[in-house]
Amino acid sequence: MREYPSILLVLIYFVRSEPDVVTDQPKTSNHSDYVPSLPGMLYQHNFNIFSGYLNADKNATLKMFYILTEAKIRPETAPLLVWFNGGPGCSSLTGMFVELGPVYANFFGDTLFENPYSWNFKANVLFLESPIGVGFSYDTNNSSTIYADDDVVAEQNYQSLTDFFSRVHPQYHRRTFFLAGESYAGVYVPTLAAKITQSINERIFPNVNFQGMAIGNGFMNAELSMNKLILWAAYHGRTSADEWDQIKEACRTEGAKDVDSEFSKFMTSKNGIEYIPNNSTCGKLLQPLTNVKPNGELAWTFDFYNYYRTCYHNFSSENATNPIQKALEALQTKNIAALMNTFSDDGKFAYACWAEDSVSTYLNDKETQDALHVSVEARRGNETYEWTTCSDVIFEKYKVKYKNTKELFNYVLQNTRRKDFRILIFSGDIDTACNFMADDYFMREIAKSNNMEKTNAHQPWFTSETQQEAGFYRTYEAINRRKTKISLHVLTVKGSGHFVPLDRPQASLQMISNFMFPLSGKVNFSRNHDIYANPSLSPIFDYETASANLPTTEMEGDDTSGDPQPESETDNSANEEENVEAVTKPIEEYDQPEKTNETKEEEAESTDKPEIQEETNMSEESESITEEKNKEEDIA
Ligand SMILES: *[C@@H]1O[C@H](CO)[C@@H](O)[C@H](O)[C@H]1NC(C)=O
Ligand SMILES: *[C@@H]1O[C@H](CO)[C@@H](O)[C@H](O)[C@H]1NC(C)=O
Ligand SMILES: *[C@@H]1O[C@H](CO)[C@@H](O)[C@H](O)[C@H]1NC(C)=O
Ligand SMILES: *[C@@H]1O[C@H](CO)[C@@H](O)[C@H](O)[C@H]1NC(C)=O
Ligand SMILES: *[C@@H]1O[C@H](CO)[C@@H](O)[C@H](O)[C@H]1NC(C)=O
Ligand SMILES: *[C@@H]1O[C@H](CO)[C@@H](O)[C@H](O)[C@H]1NC(C)=O
Ligand SMILES: *[C@@H]1O[C@H](CO)[C@@H](O)[C@H](O)[C@H]1NC(C)=O
Ligand SMILES: *[C@@H]1O[C@H](CO)[C@@H](O)[C@H](O)[C@H]1NC(C)=O
Ligand SMILES: *[C@@H]1O[C@H](CO)[C@@H](O)[C@H](O)[C@H]1NC(C)=O
Ligand SMILES: *[C@@H]1O[C@H](CO)[C@@H](O)[C@H](O)[C@H]1NC(C)=O
Ligand SMILES: *[C@@H]1O[C@H](CO)[C@@H](O)[C@H](O)[C@H]1NC(C)=O
Ligand SMILES: *[C@@H]1O[C@H](CO)[C@@H](O)[C@H](O)[C@H]1NC(C)=O
Repeated sequence: MREYPSILLVLIYFVRSEPDVVTDQPKTSNHSDYVPSLPGMLYQHNFNIFSGYLNADKNATLKMFYILTEAKIRPETAPLLVWFNGGPGCSSLTGMFVELGPVYANFFGDTLFENPYSWNFKANVLFLESPIGVGFSYDTNNSSTIYADDDVVAEQNYQSLTDFFSRVHPQYHRRTFFLAGESYAGVYVPTLAAKITQSINERIFPNVNFQGMAIGNGFMNAELSMNKLILWAAYHGRTSADEWDQIKEACRTEGAKDVDSEFSKFMTSKNGIEYIPNNSTCGKLLQPLTNVKPNGELAWTFDFYNYYRTCYHNFSSENATNPIQKALEALQTKNIAALMNTFSDDGKFAYACWAEDSVSTYLNDKETQDALHVSVEARRGNETYEWTTCSDVIFEKYKVKYKNTKELFNYVLQNTRRKDFRILIFSGDIDTACNFMADDYFMREIAKSNNMEKTNAHQPWFTSETQQEAGFYRTYEAINRRKTKISLHVLTVKGSGHFVPLDRPQASLQMISNFMFPLSGKVNFSRNHDIYANPSLSPIFDYETASANLPTTEMEGDDTSGDPQPESETDNSANEEENVEAVTKPIEEYDQPEKTNETKEEEAESTDKPEIQEETNMSEESESITEEKNKEEDIA
């Protein structure tokens, strides 16, 4: 479903002022896409940022904008996670600056503060503005018109990643990588995954180490999503017993058991994305349970991305006061992060309702665009390139080709030869744009059609030092026809809306890290000892006076003992004991891919490397354990 960022909200963090685990500065780089600093950074970051363009077609006519935020810990061996926002037509830079990225934009869009739960903790995260026409991505050919459908997007993403691994960042060409995204990326990710899987098997794609994919509140089966939205709404106080009885009567479809009717049959859709109840008795009863008015316009009477979240002020209105500034004045501290309410989810103060404006202001600033290497050619004579969160042009002309992504999932699951290929389907459970129930039912179907066995029954997973229920999960596993172990993890994030990394930052980091880094071959979503329960902020700059390392005020009783130890390569003695002060512990190595027992035929094939591998400097890479292992693990 469309991501309308006008109601995107940002969490403000409260954190202690201790030094972070990793304090070393990253090695700088003379890569032409290297970003030494971002304008308005309020803190000293300890990871590398690159941004620029990838070729999204073979003729290098289409330029896809990317930002790569490297891992805070061991970037040279950490896996790569490729992130897509949905739309179709919305920018993944919203994902970076509002959700899982290391920096969030401030109210006035002139400074950036830290997200201590950013996903580039143990992973290198690549944000792609896809397709061409979104954000800073552009077409050098002035005479072509911007258009996209599911296949066009997949092709552009495929070409861009090929360019990333082979030309722009060849040091990643053997790196374990995952594809991830949310919302309409529920189509982008499986279409791209299918293309990559096929290309790897044909020994064309430059990086064979495709390890899995993660989709948040995915738009993967449009009709199922509408069917389940009605159930979700009915059981979240949006109807009464009388109306529900009438619905069950008027909307019954053949073979329906109780409430399993195919409500979508009573709806129409022009674009395959937005559905409007028709004017039958049933349709009229369903209309109040959807997110649209009878004429099909979005109702906007509540935040359909997070049913329980309310914005009490219109921060877009003229002369709106900056809530952060007001609060800072009251608190007499300069640390923005100190405003975070860490004691519960509730409270008007914990959320801001101005993220879209801030990010737009920030990214439409000349200094920002220069720092991010936004193309002068693309600006076409303007001082700045006009950046918007979502492209209306792309959305309006978009053609949906996969209203049901089942065949794509089946293709990937049956054709991957990557040992321990993993899929994570995670859903905030109070999103009504792409509700968790549809993903739940859909994944049951996917598991069944791939003969996957339920290896973990539906059960809660836990987070925080008080071991709170973070949601539920279950696991399906199988050996596919290529004799490869495949697994499917279906998980909910309790109390989260559509934008999980925004609504549940800490739980989301725990979730994605455990998914990417299984321990002894097992994904345990409840493990949190290396995710900071109470993270410390990096040293902050006093931006105005440019005097670094401004002391911050401790806002909370801090009873942890001693300073965290710096992360050390040699200190690898994993302490398995759970401990809320685990911030001091070394980060455990994740499972390295095991050496497989290849068949003769496959061994022969494995010597037939994709061409691109010859271009890199092997001696450099072999110094890294992970890279070494990855080589052994090259798909046969
Ligand atoms: C970086 O620049 C130095 C000095 O100009 C050069 O010797 C080196 O090869 C460059 N490294 C890369 C990776 O381009
Ligand atoms: C790419 O360039 C080749 C050679 O100039 C041309 O034949 C082909 O039509 C171009 N493809 C596209 C998609 O423009
Ligand atoms: C596109 O338009 C710009 C500005 O009008 C011009 O400088 C550039 O040469 C054009 N590019 C092509 C491929 O026509
Ligand atoms: C530029 O766009 C026009 C119109 O779509 C197309 O005919 C032409 O092949 C394109 N040229 C290149 C170099 O892509
Ligand atoms: C609404 O949809 C139902 C089920 O497809 C159909 O039978 C009915 O004719 C439709 N009504 C209108 C007014 O379009
Ligand atoms: C139902 O009727 C209303 C009022 O006439 C109209 O605005 C709306 O477009 C109709 N809905 C559909 C799906 O035809
Ligand atoms: C908020 O204010 C802006 C600017 O004045 C206005 O365009 C917008 O409609 C307002 N939004 C709401 C929900 O009132
Ligand atoms: C906003 O502030 C300006 C300058 O103080 C003032 O002229 C204008 O009337 C204010 N607008 C509103 C809606 O209060
Ligand atoms: C240049 O500025 C104009 C006027 O603000 C705008 O309509 C146009 O989209 C801009 N072009 C680009 C490439 O940003
Ligand atoms: C998963 O991790 C949690 C927290 O560390 C631990 O209590 C639990 O025993 C682990 N479960 C398994 C199956 O290892
Ligand atoms: C590897 O394959 C060979 C030949 O099929 C077999 O004898 C051996 O037991 C296998 N080793 C493992 C670890 O599976
Ligand atoms: C490869 O890297 C090694 C170690 O950094 C260096 O000595 C060697 O010159 C490099 N070889 C090439 C071909 O770049």
